[in-house]
Amino acid sequence: QESTVPGELGDPAAITAEVAEPGAVTIVVPTFNESANVRRLLHQITESVPSRLPCEVLFVDDSTDDTPHVIEEAAKDCPFPVAVLHREEPVGGLGGAVVEGMAVAGSEWIVVMDGDCQHPPSLVPDLVATGERAGAGLVVASRYLTGGSRAGLAGSYRVAVSRVATWLTKSLFPRRLHGISDPMSGFFAIRRSAVTAEVLKPLGYKILLELAVRSRPRQVSEVPFVFQERFAGESKSSAREGLRFLRHLVGLRTASPLARMAVFGLIGVSGFVPNLLALWALTHAGMHYVPAEILANQLGVVWNFLLIEHLLFRDRRLFRRWWDRLGRFALLANADLLLRIPLIALLVGRSGMDALSATALALVMTFVLRFVGTEALVYLP
Ligand code: GDD
Ligand code: MN
Repeated sequence: QESTVPGELGDPAAITAEVAEPGAVTIVVPTFNESANVRRLLHQITESVPSRLPCEVLFVDDSTDDTPHVIEEAAKDCPFPVAVLHREEPVGGLGGAVVEGMAVAGSEWIVVMDGDCQHPPSLVPDLVATGERAGAGLVVASRYLTGGSRAGLAGSYRVAVSRVATWLTKSLFPRRLHGISDPMSGFFAIRRSAVTAEVLKPLGYKILLELAVRSRPRQVSEVPFVFQERFAGESKSSAREGLRFLRHLVGLRTASPLARMAVFGLIGVSGFVPNLLALWALTHAGMHYVPAEILANQLGVVWNFLLIEHLLFRDRRLFRRWWDRLGRFALLANADLLLRIPLIALLVGRSGMDALSATALALVMTFVLRFVGTEALVYLP
């Protein structure tokens, strides 16, 4: 059998036409500078997959080294189609690459796996077989089932980070991740029909999480696996990737307006910290508490603005320049303060409410107004 290697930005349709039969698998491998690993990976796949399941392999590559070239050379020895989709613009990082790969995959099943040999290809046919047997849309290779392990997760630091991240994520999405013991896994099989590409907003490493939460495949199965040591080179994960993961979590969790409002409120409460610190510093420096509080409050406003810009409305910063947004945001925040006192007076005076209830009600009212105002006046055209 001949292997087709379209090469850089080759015609992916050429390979998708070749293996489109049901039950076949497209293995999507995201790669970033993995030239020392891809030959071995293709060799491992050759040994364990085609004799059990027709397959094609699609690398989605964001490398700055010669990974695409090495793949093309190694592909000549493969008894199945291999293609490289090299991206000039690495939008969305690892997750973005996987989604682009899934869009051109030609088989009924898509298996996503890493390019550094941490995921054993011998499991690929088992993942698909499990999905067929259970009628599942998604089959996760899990390190946390009996028989699985995270042997290859180097160092107790990474194990701890991984454990905390898994716990946090599972608590944030108890329903969506029900039955998924390892939502952080980068190794899974998904039916093409279960991928709802229109609703996906991949951001960084956790593409399985993205799919489980936004595509909501109707039935999920799991298979244990042993996470191997990386063959060559180093993990591409970094502190920056960790921040991206937090942003991804917030984005997933705040898809509904109510959840967005809750996070907006939490951010608002966190603004008391810089506010009080500044107030303390300014009054200690001898400033009168009234101007000190006005200044300190502005610091809280800026703090809130930064968090909202970078966590909550990150993908909505499209319609105004940043200083325009900051100006409007600050205006709303100060209007909120100015509005509250007359509102309380009105509630007490007109409807005879007691001062405490009136204050609480006014707080809630101005908060909701501020949230709605921020969405409408700062982040919409
Ligand atoms: N195309 C593309 N673009 N590929 C990328 C990018 C990118 O920006 N960043 C990383 N990759 C590729 C790597 O080249 C590798 O093939 C694969 O994605 C995984 O990257 P690693 O850097 O090896 O990740 P890891 O070993 O730290 O993390 C893996 O295991 C975690 C579980 O502990 C990943 O599978 C994670 O998703 C998983 O959570
Ligand atoms: Mn790895």
